[in-house]
Amino acid sequence: MTCFADSARYEIATVTENVRLARDTMRVRIAAPEMARQAVPGQFFMIRIATGNDPLIGRAFALYELDPEDRAWFDLVYLVKGRLTTRLAELRPGDPLAVWGPLGNGFDPIACDHLIMVAGGIGQTPFLALGKEALGRQAYGTPPRPSGYASDVTFCYGVRSADYLSDVDRFQQLGCEVLVATEDGSAGPAQRVTDVLEQVLARQTGRRSRIACCGPEPMMEAVAAMARRYQVPCQVSLETPMACGIGICFTCVARIGTPHDWDYKRTCVEGPVFDAHHVQW
Ligand SMILES: Cc1cc2nc3c(=O)[nH]c(=O)nc-3n(C[C@H](O)[C@H](O)[C@H](O)COP(=O)(O)OP(=O)(O)OC[C@H]3O[C@@H](n4cnc5c(N)ncnc54)[C@H](O)[C@@H]3O)c2cc1C
Ligand code: FES
Repeated sequence: MTCFADSARYEIATVTENVRLARDTMRVRIAAPEMARQAVPGQFFMIRIATGNDPLIGRAFALYELDPEDRAWFDLVYLVKGRLTTRLAELRPGDPLAVWGPLGNGFDPIACDHLIMVAGGIGQTPFLALGKEALGRQAYGTPPRPSGYASDVTFCYGVRSADYLSDVDRFQQLGCEVLVATEDGSAGPAQRVTDVLEQVLARQTGRRSRIACCGPEPMMEAVAAMARRYQVPCQVSLETPMACGIGICFTCVARIGTPHDWDYKRTCVEGPVFDAHHVQW
């Protein structure tokens, strides 16, 4: 079995920026070139506050973006929510941060006509890097893995209200078609991201499409069902709570189908990206 913690590193790295992007949403920039050079879209990093033991257990954050020049830093985007993210939001440039990674498998770079990225809320974080790679704007990993494997990329982005939308303009500048869904109708008609996805899938005619999805589990389950109905391959990035991130503690297991039955798989080292049709929702 391949173990995706094999190339991970541990460092006390330095925060170089920590800025607000949207309501309760921040972007932290971390100077850690060795880690940045390894990371690919859909992988994640574990983070702990370097000064003190609260919280004791690290938290996982998806790779958001890499330094496009010399890969000297990477960015994470986070929703300020509970114990770790509240403390993370207080960090200033020059502060230390305990980081280990990159971890997990990442999304598969498979050639297609149309990559449809579907995000619910803060589940948008893996998709700036994935969109860049798919459209050939940036290569990731050492040695670099394939890029430019999708002709078109659509980003279906669902949030509760418009003030949670972050970096929409960056996705647009990249060349992605961005379709926003707000539950309260504060940007366009009130609808869910699955409504938008259904419209996109309904207009596909003979194109080789693929879906990449991340967000709350009920939303991913609904996207998986829709993908099955439209017979479109779909990968989901699961956000099961994690403790070690390196395959030791089994906190993060998910039920994943096998050819005859199902088995528990560790999301940290055998995921977090799985074939949506193999996940036992
Ligand atoms: C592979 C993976 C990738 C991830 N990527 C990202 C990412 O890119 N960005 C991101 O933001 N998150 C991401 N997460 C989730 C992240 O790891 C954390 O779980 C999340 O940031 C919350 O951590 P926390 O310590 O701030 O909250 P915790 O303290 O762990 O709180 C968790 C929950 O409890 C609730 N809670 C906490 N304190 C209270 C309280 N006092 N009263 C009521 N409710 C409370 C919070 O609202 C929250 O719902 C990812 C998870 C995984 C597994
Ligand atoms: S988080 Fe410990 S095994 Fe996955």
